[in-house]
Amino acid sequence: MDISQALYTTRAMRRVKPDPIPDEVMAKLLDAAVRAPSGGNTQKWRFLIVTDQAKKSALQKIYSDGLTELNANQYKSVMDLIQDGDPDDPEVIQAKKTYASGRWLADNLDKVPVLLFAWGKPNGESSIFPALWSLQLAATAEGLGTSLTTLLFKKHTQEVLDILGAPPVGEWVPMAMITIGYPTGTWGVAKRQQPHEVAFQNTWGNPVSWTVPEPLWP
Ligand SMILES: Cc1cc2nc3c(=O)[nH]c(=O)nc-3n(C[C@H](O)[C@H](O)[C@H](O)COP(=O)(O)O)c2cc1C
Repeated sequence: MDISQALYTTRAMRRVKPDPIPDEVMAKLLDAAVRAPSGGNTQKWRFLIVTDQAKKSALQKIYSDGLTELNANQYKSVMDLIQDGDPDDPEVIQAKKTYASGRWLADNLDKVPVLLFAWGKPNGESSIFPALWSLQLAATAEGLGTSLTTLLFKKHTQEVLDILGAPPVGEWVPMAMITIGYPTGTWGVAKRQQPHEVAFQNTWGNPVSWTVPEPLWP
Protein backbone atom coordinates (compact mmCIF):
# COMPACT_ATOMS: atom_id res chain seq x y z
CA MET A 1 0.00 0.00 0.00
CA ASP A 2 1.10 3.54 -0.81
CA ILE A 3 2.31 5.32 2.36
CA SER A 4 0.00 8.31 1.75
CA GLN A 5 -3.01 6.03 1.58
CA ALA A 6 -2.09 4.46 4.92
CA LEU A 7 -1.45 7.88 6.50
CA TYR A 8 -4.68 9.44 5.27
CA THR A 9 -7.04 6.52 5.88
CA THR A 10 -5.80 5.05 9.16
CA ARG A 11 -8.32 6.14 11.75
CA ALA A 12 -10.53 4.80 14.52
CA MET A 13 -12.02 1.76 12.76
CA ARG A 14 -13.99 0.31 15.66
CA ARG A 15 -16.47 -1.92 13.85
CA VAL A 16 -14.68 -5.13 12.94
CA LYS A 17 -15.55 -8.75 12.16
CA PRO A 18 -14.91 -11.50 14.71
CA ASP A 19 -12.66 -13.38 12.24
CA PRO A 20 -9.35 -14.35 13.84
CA ILE A 21 -6.10 -12.68 12.79
CA PRO A 22 -3.37 -15.13 11.72
CA ASP A 23 -0.29 -15.25 13.97
CA GLU A 24 1.99 -14.33 11.06
CA VAL A 25 -0.01 -11.13 10.52
CA MET A 26 0.19 -10.23 14.22
CA ALA A 27 3.95 -10.88 14.06
CA LYS A 28 4.22 -8.42 11.15
CA LEU A 29 2.34 -5.73 13.10
CA LEU A 30 4.56 -6.07 16.16
CA ASP A 31 7.67 -6.20 13.97
CA ALA A 32 6.63 -2.86 12.44
CA ALA A 33 5.87 -1.43 15.90
CA VAL A 34 9.33 -2.14 17.34
CA ARG A 35 11.02 -0.34 14.40
CA ALA A 36 9.59 2.93 15.79
CA PRO A 37 11.76 5.51 17.56
CA SER A 38 11.97 5.70 21.36
CA GLY A 39 13.74 8.18 23.64
CA GLY A 40 17.45 7.24 23.71
CA ASN A 41 16.49 4.12 21.71
CA THR A 42 15.69 2.53 25.07
CA GLN A 43 12.76 0.55 23.61
CA LYS A 44 11.15 0.37 27.03
CA TRP A 45 7.87 -1.08 25.87
CA ARG A 46 5.86 -4.24 26.43
CA PHE A 47 2.88 -5.52 24.45
CA LEU A 48 0.24 -8.07 25.43
CA ILE A 49 -1.94 -9.69 22.77
CA VAL A 50 -5.28 -10.79 24.21
CA THR A 51 -7.41 -13.28 22.27
CA ASP A 52 -8.72 -15.27 25.26
CA GLN A 53 -12.54 -15.15 25.28
CA ALA A 54 -13.00 -15.10 29.06
CA LYS A 55 -10.53 -12.22 29.44
CA LYS A 56 -12.15 -10.27 26.56
CA SER A 57 -15.61 -10.73 28.11
CA ALA A 58 -14.41 -9.45 31.50
CA LEU A 59 -12.72 -6.46 29.83
CA GLN A 60 -15.85 -5.70 27.78
CA LYS A 61 -17.91 -5.22 30.95
CA ILE A 62 -15.38 -2.80 32.43
CA TYR A 63 -15.02 -0.93 29.14
CA SER A 64 -18.78 -0.64 28.66
CA ASP A 65 -19.38 0.69 32.17
CA GLY A 66 -16.43 3.05 31.72
CA LEU A 67 -17.88 4.52 28.52
CA THR A 68 -21.32 4.98 30.10
CA GLU A 69 -19.66 6.81 32.99
CA LEU A 70 -17.50 8.95 30.66
CA ASN A 71 -20.49 9.95 28.54
CA ALA A 72 -22.47 10.93 31.64
CA ASN A 73 -19.65 13.12 32.97
CA GLN A 74 -16.71 14.20 30.80
CA TYR A 75 -18.69 14.07 27.53
CA LYS A 76 -21.99 15.32 28.94
CA SER A 77 -21.99 18.41 26.70
CA VAL A 78 -21.58 16.17 23.63
CA MET A 79 -24.42 13.93 24.82
CA ASP A 80 -26.60 17.04 25.32
CA LEU A 81 -25.72 18.20 21.81
CA ILE A 82 -26.72 14.81 20.39
CA GLN A 83 -30.02 14.88 22.27
CA ASP A 84 -31.03 18.53 21.83
CA GLY A 85 -29.01 19.81 18.85
CA ASP A 86 -30.37 20.46 15.35
CA PRO A 87 -30.32 17.01 13.67
CA ASP A 88 -29.26 18.67 10.38
CA ASP A 89 -26.25 20.43 11.95
CA PRO A 90 -23.06 18.75 10.62
CA GLU A 91 -21.53 18.94 14.13
CA VAL A 92 -24.51 17.04 15.58
CA ILE A 93 -24.37 14.48 12.76
CA GLN A 94 -20.64 13.91 13.39
CA ALA A 95 -21.16 13.66 17.17
CA LYS A 96 -23.88 11.03 16.63
CA LYS A 97 -21.59 9.01 14.36
CA THR A 98 -18.71 9.09 16.85
CA TYR A 99 -21.06 8.17 19.71
CA ALA A 100 -22.51 5.22 17.77
CA SER A 101 -19.07 3.99 16.80
CA GLY A 102 -17.79 4.26 20.38
CA ARG A 103 -20.88 2.54 21.75
CA TRP A 104 -20.56 -0.27 19.19
CA LEU A 105 -17.05 -0.96 20.43
CA ALA A 106 -18.14 -0.90 24.07
CA ASP A 107 -20.99 -3.34 23.36
CA ASN A 108 -18.87 -5.65 21.20
CA LEU A 109 -15.37 -5.51 22.66
CA ASP A 110 -15.55 -9.21 23.48
CA LYS A 111 -16.11 -10.01 19.79
CA VAL A 112 -13.10 -8.06 18.54
CA PRO A 113 -10.52 -10.73 17.67
CA VAL A 114 -7.45 -9.04 19.18
CA LEU A 115 -7.06 -6.55 22.02
CA LEU A 116 -3.46 -5.40 22.15
CA PHE A 117 -2.28 -3.75 25.37
CA ALA A 118 0.82 -1.59 25.57
CA TRP A 119 3.05 -0.48 28.45
CA GLY A 120 5.77 2.12 28.77
CA LYS A 121 8.22 3.09 31.51
CA PRO A 122 7.58 5.91 34.02
CA ASN A 123 8.80 9.26 32.58
CA GLY A 124 9.27 7.63 29.18
CA GLU A 125 5.68 6.61 28.57
CA SER A 126 5.23 8.75 25.48
CA SER A 127 7.72 6.60 23.56
CA ILE A 128 4.96 4.02 23.19
CA PHE A 129 2.86 6.17 20.85
CA PRO A 130 5.09 6.18 17.75
CA ALA A 131 5.25 2.38 18.07
CA LEU A 132 1.49 2.07 18.37
CA TRP A 133 0.92 4.39 15.43
CA SER A 134 3.39 2.34 13.33
CA LEU A 135 1.43 -0.76 14.33
CA GLN A 136 -1.82 0.89 13.26
CA LEU A 137 -0.36 1.94 9.89
CA ALA A 138 1.01 -1.58 9.35
CA ALA A 139 -2.44 -2.96 10.21
CA THR A 140 -4.04 -0.73 7.57
CA ALA A 141 -1.59 -2.11 5.01
CA GLU A 142 -2.70 -5.63 6.02
CA GLY A 143 -6.37 -4.72 5.48
CA LEU A 144 -7.05 -4.55 9.22
CA GLY A 145 -8.95 -1.91 11.19
CA THR A 146 -7.64 -0.61 14.51
CA SER A 147 -8.63 1.85 17.18
CA LEU A 148 -6.43 3.26 19.90
CA THR A 149 -8.15 3.42 23.28
CA THR A 150 -7.16 4.60 26.75
CA LEU A 151 -10.54 4.26 28.46
CA LEU A 152 -9.63 1.10 30.40
CA PHE A 153 -6.84 2.96 32.17
CA LYS A 154 -8.88 5.95 33.27
CA LYS A 155 -10.46 4.53 36.42
CA HIS A 156 -10.38 0.75 36.67
CA THR A 157 -6.71 0.18 35.98
CA GLN A 158 -6.00 -2.35 38.74
CA GLU A 159 -9.05 -4.43 37.82
CA VAL A 160 -7.84 -4.54 34.21
CA LEU A 161 -4.27 -5.40 35.24
CA ASP A 162 -5.58 -8.26 37.40
CA ILE A 163 -7.44 -9.71 34.40
CA LEU A 164 -4.27 -9.42 32.32
CA GLY A 165 -2.04 -10.91 35.02
CA ALA A 166 0.08 -7.76 34.67
CA PRO A 167 2.18 -6.05 37.36
CA PRO A 168 0.67 -3.12 39.28
CA VAL A 169 1.49 0.35 37.97
CA GLY A 170 5.08 1.07 38.93
CA GLU A 171 7.98 -0.33 36.94
CA TRP A 172 5.63 -0.53 33.95
CA VAL A 173 2.82 1.91 33.12
CA PRO A 174 -0.15 0.69 31.06
CA MET A 175 -0.73 3.25 28.32
CA ALA A 176 -3.26 2.05 25.79
CA MET A 177 -5.25 -0.79 24.31
CA ILE A 178 -5.58 -1.14 20.54
CA THR A 179 -8.49 -3.09 19.07
CA ILE A 180 -7.63 -5.00 15.89
CA GLY A 181 -9.84 -6.83 13.40
CA TYR A 182 -10.95 -7.04 9.79
CA PRO A 183 -13.16 -3.99 9.19
CA THR A 184 -16.83 -4.08 8.26
CA GLY A 185 -16.61 -0.65 6.59
CA THR A 186 -14.44 1.16 4.08
CA TRP A 187 -11.55 3.54 4.52
CA GLY A 188 -12.20 7.27 4.17
CA VAL A 189 -9.99 10.33 4.60
CA ALA A 190 -10.44 11.85 8.06
CA LYS A 191 -12.05 15.30 8.21
CA ARG A 192 -9.89 17.52 10.40
CA GLN A 193 -9.00 21.15 10.94
CA GLN A 194 -6.75 22.01 8.01
CA PRO A 195 -2.99 22.37 8.67
CA HIS A 196 -2.79 26.14 8.06
CA GLU A 197 -5.45 26.59 10.77
CA VAL A 198 -3.30 24.92 13.40
CA ALA A 199 0.27 25.81 12.32
CA PHE A 200 2.30 29.00 12.85
CA GLN A 201 5.53 30.25 11.32
CA ASN A 202 8.57 31.46 13.33
CA THR A 203 6.47 33.14 16.04
CA TRP A 204 3.45 31.82 17.89
CA GLY A 205 0.31 33.23 16.26
CA ASN A 206 2.09 34.18 13.00
CA PRO A 207 0.27 32.46 10.11
CA VAL A 208 2.05 30.19 7.65
CA SER A 209 2.32 31.51 4.09
CA TRP A 210 0.36 28.64 2.54
CA THR A 211 -3.11 27.14 2.84
CA VAL A 212 -4.42 23.64 2.28
CA PRO A 213 -8.16 24.00 1.63
CA GLU A 214 -8.64 20.27 0.97
CA PRO A 215 -6.67 17.15 1.97
CA LEU A 216 -3.72 16.70 -0.42
CA TRP A 217 -4.45 12.99 -0.90
CA PRO A 218 -5.88 11.34 -2.98
C1 LIG B 1 -4.73 9.23 23.15
C2 LIG B 1 -6.02 8.72 22.51
C3 LIG B 1 -6.95 8.07 23.29
C4 LIG B 1 -8.13 7.56 22.72
N1 LIG B 1 -8.99 6.85 23.49
C5 LIG B 1 -10.08 6.30 22.93
C6 LIG B 1 -10.93 5.45 23.69
O1 LIG B 1 -10.70 5.19 24.87
N2 LIG B 1 -12.01 4.89 23.06
C7 LIG B 1 -12.27 5.12 21.75
O2 LIG B 1 -13.26 4.58 21.23
N3 LIG B 1 -11.48 5.91 20.99
C8 LIG B 1 -10.38 6.49 21.54
N4 LIG B 1 -9.54 7.25 20.77
C9 LIG B 1 -9.82 7.44 19.32
C10 LIG B 1 -10.37 8.83 19.02
O3 LIG B 1 -11.66 8.95 19.55
C11 LIG B 1 -10.37 9.04 17.50
O4 LIG B 1 -9.04 9.01 17.03
C12 LIG B 1 -11.02 10.37 17.11
O5 LIG B 1 -12.36 10.39 17.47
C13 LIG B 1 -10.92 10.63 15.61
O6 LIG B 1 -11.63 9.63 14.93
P1 LIG B 1 -11.17 9.18 13.47
O7 LIG B 1 -9.76 8.75 13.59
O8 LIG B 1 -12.06 8.03 13.09
O9 LIG B 1 -11.35 10.33 12.55
C14 LIG B 1 -8.37 7.75 21.32
C15 LIG B 1 -7.42 8.42 20.55
C16 LIG B 1 -6.24 8.89 21.12
C17 LIG B 1 -5.22 9.56 20.23
